[in-house]
Amino acid sequence: MNLVLLGPPGAGKGTQATRLSQEFAVRHLSSGDVLRAERQAGTELGARVAGYMDAGELVPDDIIIEVILSRVKAESGGVLLDGFPRTRAQAESLLEALLADGSSLDAVISLEVPDEDVVGRITGRRICPACGQVYHVRFHPPQKADICDADGEKLIQRPDDTEEVVKQRLQAYHEQTEPIKAYYRQKGLLSEIDGTGTMEAVGDAACKAIQDRVCGCESGG
Ligand code: AP5
Ligand code: MG
Repeated sequence: MNLVLLGPPGAGKGTQATRLSQEFAVRHLSSGDVLRAERQAGTELGARVAGYMDAGELVPDDIIIEVILSRVKAESGGVLLDGFPRTRAQAESLLEALLADGSSLDAVISLEVPDEDVVGRITGRRICPACGQVYHVRFHPPQKADICDADGEKLIQRPDDTEEVVKQRLQAYHEQTEPIKAYYRQKGLLSEIDGTGTMEAVGDAACKAIQDRVCGCESGG
């Protein structure tokens, strides 16, 4: 099964992808996480994308398409894509690559969250630099302030999680990514979910939408 999670920055893609990838037994593939790992490892690719990411702009299509599709092709058990595709060119190349492999796209879930909620979610987010666990200072705080529950590491903020950069990321979303909802709607693949409820309620709605679309698919959770 191959799934796509769409939504603005802070919509909860990463949060829900963790749950959905377990429920539907598919690999969670986050384009943002892939790029951040390249940066952390000090690779040439990491250096090429750093400026775009820090400015809240999209990385050029030719770079991201190659990086993500090579990983999709390496996964025989299906993927849950989070943060890819983000442009029409990326969406078309994904579908082409899946079809060429004798596979297909089963569902596209769009998490709908208004801009005013996004800013509060992004500026309150904290992440563990070691294990990647995501927290929020109000909505999902760690047991001890600024310390990861799982491994005791000090939590950090992503460098692009400032109010100024979030505005640019939202603009990129509305101008370049939101239009691909129409592309997927036209293909009969899109389900729009209210992303403003609790994390559990949003997850329940996303699971149901996927089950409804993927005929005969049983949730394991
Ligand atoms: P990426 O890492 O994908 O960032 P993003 O799309 O801006 O999304 P986020 O990771 O910020 O948010 P999320 O939806 O995962 O929310 P989360 O679950 O963490 O991309 C970063 C950059 O990489 C881009 O700007 C671009 O430069 C580049 N890039 C990546 N992919 C690309 C592509 N395909 N093409 C070109 N460039 C690309 O939740 C956010 C916070 O809210 C957390 O604190 C969480 O605890 C909290 N939260 C979650 N759900 C709820 C809820 N229901 N209620 C309350 N709080 C909640
Ligand atoms: Mg994310």
